[in-house]
Amino acid sequence: MPSVLLLSGSPSATSRTTALLHLVADRIRSDDTEVDLLEVRDLPPAALLSGDASDPAIAEAAALLQTADALVVGSPIYKASYTGLLKAFLDLLPQYALRGTSVLPLATGGTPAHVLAIDYALRPVLVSLGAEHVAQGWFVLDKAVTFAPDGPRLDEAVAAQLWPVVDGFTERVLRESAVLL
Ligand SMILES: Cc1cc2nc3c(=O)[nH]c(=O)nc-3n(C[C@H](O)[C@H](O)[C@H](O)COP(=O)(O)O)c2cc1C
Repeated sequence: MPSVLLLSGSPSATSRTTALLHLVADRIRSDDTEVDLLEVRDLPPAALLSGDASDPAIAEAAALLQTADALVVGSPIYKASYTGLLKAFLDLLPQYALRGTSVLPLATGGTPAHVLAIDYALRPVLVSLGAEHVAQGWFVLDKAVTFAPDGPRLDEAVAAQLWPVVDGFTERVLRESAVLL
């Protein structure tokens, strides 16, 4: 069964990015797919800041990422780029940690002015980590993600655009894992 890891690079405890990733996880999860969500903010800050890849929690997170068949990486746009928190974690990974992995990059941001940040900032890093395939990234405006008592909600018009992207990515992952069997 293919495994998909969703990685949130948001430092926020009430993160719209992580909320979006939970909705994406619900969309991907099925009897045929195993889904995990990892928040970089839950990893030990001292190890992240001192570049300590030998820290057990960092090593475990890196192993989870390396064994996943596919990765959905989500970050808020801060100062026109993905977060420093996400970069601190990516910097601790082995050189080709994403070899053989398909990646779907997602971002949330406050302004469409930075919609290209995925392509100019995040995509080159994913490629340098050896990602097998980096799908077309998707940018979601923060106001499209809201919090209801029963969980996060995604604006319907945005969902109508995003779900075909997520479904296409999932189909590709399932197809690739069938080929490898
Ligand atoms: C420190 C900081 C810097 C930000 N810089 C930008 C920016 O440069 N461009 C943008 O579109 N949004 C920017 N935003 C808005 C966030 O990207 C947006 O609200 C995002 O959805 C927050 O996600 P989060 O809840 O996961 O932190 C910034 C927000 C913060 C807190």
